[in-house]
Amino acid sequence: MTAKMHSVILKDIGYREVLIKTPSTMKEVESLTALNLKWQRANVKTIGNGFLSGGHFPPSVFMKMAEQKDTVVGIYDDRVVSYYTVNSVIMDGVLANQRMKAEELKLKGLMPKQASIAVGVQIVVDKQYQGSKLAKFMLDCLVENTKDRFDYFYTSISKKNEKSVEAHKKTGWMFVDQDENLHHLIYDLGKHTNAVNSL
Ligand SMILES: CC(C)(COP(=O)(O)OP(=O)(O)OC[C@H]1O[C@@H](n2cnc3c(N)ncnc32)[C@H](O)[C@@H]1OP(=O)(O)O)[C@@H](O)C(=O)NCCC(=O)NCCS
Repeated sequence: MTAKMHSVILKDIGYREVLIKTPSTMKEVESLTALNLKWQRANVKTIGNGFLSGGHFPPSVFMKMAEQKDTVVGIYDDRVVSYYTVNSVIMDGVLANQRMKAEELKLKGLMPKQASIAVGVQIVVDKQYQGSKLAKFMLDCLVENTKDRFDYFYTSISKKNEKSVEAHKKTGWMFVDQDENLHHLIYDLGKHTNAVNSL
């Protein structure tokens, strides 16, 4: 586990130092679950579309994700204020669909046949901390933490989530496919360059 301080400038608050833990540990499970739920409650209006079950994780799943070193967290004042995760724990539901989509993208020649692909890639930055470059710094840490296991990340983003679309464009994700509701994105870990320095 590594722990690095990362300085951010927040609107209306000013300078803060956020502790970035890579990967997360059992200690953060409760606070991590709370941030995940806060985002899901604020943004997902319908439970029936299959998205909530793919995006919302209970503490038991975050515990396994900590054991499997899937998650990077940002902590301020003992509270998780941001996280970036892959998911190597859940094998069914939306994540099974993501694995199928990733294989389809290989067949289309967008990734090599033998590539190992992480799915369930999810980023959440709490409102106060958005716009602070925390997203990019956590991506640096997530890549560092998972590049021994994966060659590519795959994720999908709702076309309605304009902020997330812009944030992913800025951080080097490739928009390779789309359907009625979703953009499909891949990230080549082999091409990653660290863009933000820690303290
Ligand atoms: C997605 C998320 C992690 C991005 O983090 P962030 O700190 O806001 O990202 P950034 O500030 O680096 O980038 C956001 C970009 O979107 C732009 N943006 C902000 N509001 C926007 C809006 N309503 N519509 C379009 N673009 C918008 C910003 O201007 C910024 O681009 P710029 O730097 O070129 O000006 C964060 O918004 C978040 O946690 N959202 C809730 C959870 C979520 O939706 N996660 C993604 C699931 S796919």
